[in-house]
Amino acid sequence: MNRGGSGIRADLLVENASELITLAADPSKGGAAGPRIGSSMRDLSIISGGSVAAFNGRIVAVGETHEVRRRVEPVPDAEVIDATGMVVLPGFVDSHTHLVFAGSREKEFIQRAEGKTYLQILSAGGGILSTVRATRNATHSHLVDLGLAYLDTMMCHGTTTVEIKSGYGLSVDEELKTLRVIRELDKLHPIDVVSTFMGAHAVPPEFAGDTEGYVRHVIDDMLPAVKEEGLAEFCDVFCEEGVFSVRQSRRILEAGLALGLLPRIHADEMASLGGAELAAEIRAVSAEHLLYASEEGIRKMAEAGVTATLLPATSFTLGLGRYADARAFISAGCPVALATDFNPGTSPTLSMQFVMNVAALGMKLHPAEIICASTINAAHGLMRGNQVGSLEIGKLADMVVIDADTHLKIPYKPGTNIVDKVIKEGRLVVSEGRRIVS
Ligand code: NIG
Ligand code: FE
Repeated sequence: MNRGGSGIRADLLVENASELITLAADPSKGGAAGPRIGSSMRDLSIISGGSVAAFNGRIVAVGETHEVRRRVEPVPDAEVIDATGMVVLPGFVDSHTHLVFAGSREKEFIQRAEGKTYLQILSAGGGILSTVRATRNATHSHLVDLGLAYLDTMMCHGTTTVEIKSGYGLSVDEELKTLRVIRELDKLHPIDVVSTFMGAHAVPPEFAGDTEGYVRHVIDDMLPAVKEEGLAEFCDVFCEEGVFSVRQSRRILEAGLALGLLPRIHADEMASLGGAELAAEIRAVSAEHLLYASEEGIRKMAEAGVTATLLPATSFTLGLGRYADARAFISAGCPVALATDFNPGTSPTLSMQFVMNVAALGMKLHPAEIICASTINAAHGLMRGNQVGSLEIGKLADMVVIDADTHLKIPYKPGTNIVDKVIKEGRLVVSEGRRIVS
């Protein structure tokens, strides 16, 4: 029955949200469909008593519930979710993870407790290199199984899009193995997976003492092989004292760009090397970590529109005693995103909610800024801003229903999963915080 309106068909309706956080661009404020910067990060474009309708996985209507009801015509078996007393917002976009690896590294926590630093453990052949050994020994299907389980946990915590980097293979064959696992995860799991090649994550034992030789291997052998199979969209480098220098990072990222892989960079995490400046010069899509970014680097990143992807769970886990200066990036006009950095060494959390808690407590960000950084800005930092990150007509119907009546409660309860439901491309995939197996 057409209710007299235009009769837009809907197979999913989420209704009566106490707050529907749309993060929609506001044309009256010149709101372009870009990331939010500065004070606009505090504006979530909230509709109280809001509703979203979707058809075939895409959003077809957004507005107050009575208005949406008037405009759409639910198909006979449409799913209708009553979100009374709940907050509904776009699915979280986790734009920086190292999710494909084998083994775990809890013993390093003891070494660090005894005073060894992260880089000392790495230069003694541990850290990333111990995960490289375990990952090389794992089969494709074992890595797929591990990855699917991690993705399930992420989804139950509200994540609907994830970036995954390679970087625990560090040879042509092993990096290709990892990237094929990433491709398989995207096929098999409801979460959308974005792939990044990070052969320059560490120098493997075969090239110990010959970082230059390894850089050439990455450029001459790995990048063309990755390109040939179309396995990655981005290229990333660990630009850090004792790992890859600014010059080496630039060469690798430029070689990647020449093959069409867009640059991202782990920059200025443990020391101020000039990674932020490099990110601006080569117009990286995103620079990440940034605890020691210089004022100049922050300014240049803002000018170049490079997303600052901040990873507070990593600072927390490493006990670094400091966080990236999120406020300085926001004041400078940089789009700021937040991500888990999920990996076995520096951030074994799968939960964007935990990241949001730490961002509130450690970085003193406002709840609205945190939500913006975990949705629309993260989506833009992955070049997915036209598909996900806000609840707007035409975008994917990726949504989270939170068991709270105001968004202020989202970063408020550390260690508690407050996600009730997750909708991925219009399909209910998590209910009462648990994966629905269809
Ligand atoms: O982003 N910093 C380099 N890479 C990861 C850590 C990887 C690991 O320790 O296994 C990071 O923190
Ligand atoms: Fe990382």
